[in-house]
Amino acid sequence: MRRRDVVLGLLAAMTAGSPSHTIAHGSGRHAAGAGGADVTDPLAGRFGGPFTLTDQNGRRVSDRDFRGRFMLVYFGFTHCVDVCPIDLALQHQALIEIGDLAERVQPLFVTVDPARDRPEVLKAYLANFHPATLGLTGSEPEIAAVAKAYRVHRRKVALDHPDAAHLRDAAGSYIVDHGTLTFLMGPDGSFRTLIPHDVTSERLTAILKDYLGRE
Ligand code: NI
Repeated sequence: MRRRDVVLGLLAAMTAGSPSHTIAHGSGRHAAGAGGADVTDPLAGRFGGPFTLTDQNGRRVSDRDFRGRFMLVYFGFTHCVDVCPIDLALQHQALIEIGDLAERVQPLFVTVDPARDRPEVLKAYLANFHPATLGLTGSEPEIAAVAKAYRVHRRKVALDHPDAAHLRDAAGSYIVDHGTLTFLMGPDGSFRTLIPHDVTSERLTAILKDYLGRE
């Protein structure tokens, strides 16, 4: 079965019976401060920071290139067998649902596995998802720095145990356990909200419309 079919099947299964989950944070109950930042938000300033990485076309890009647009920042890796394809498919669907507003959102897929996810690998992988998505890779220190700035956990796990044999076909010799939150960053580059892994595309669509409508 092709990866795309797998992903669409997973997406259909998830959206069919999944209740709407989100976290209370970012629901708009607090007053918005300058630039739309939530002045009472205890998480403000805790996620994100400057980065310069290489996209799937080999271009060096920086967070500053996206000022004026929201950034939807997700960390993952192309050999991920379950979590990443689901979240990228959900994002794809939500970005279609918001229509022209999607022009104000830059989806970013930052690899946690720079050793394998070189630009050409990211390019082939992202052909399965929203065409605006930029895949970002870099040196190990560059990826370590951006993961630290976003407080994203990542841990290499060897698939050398006999029980992991079924994973080796798809994932190779190791996987990278990683944080699965998506970060919505505002047009000024600063943090807006977190989106959990188990969100539905309907809920993600509503979150994006909410935040895009504020600023
Ligand atoms: Ni993943």
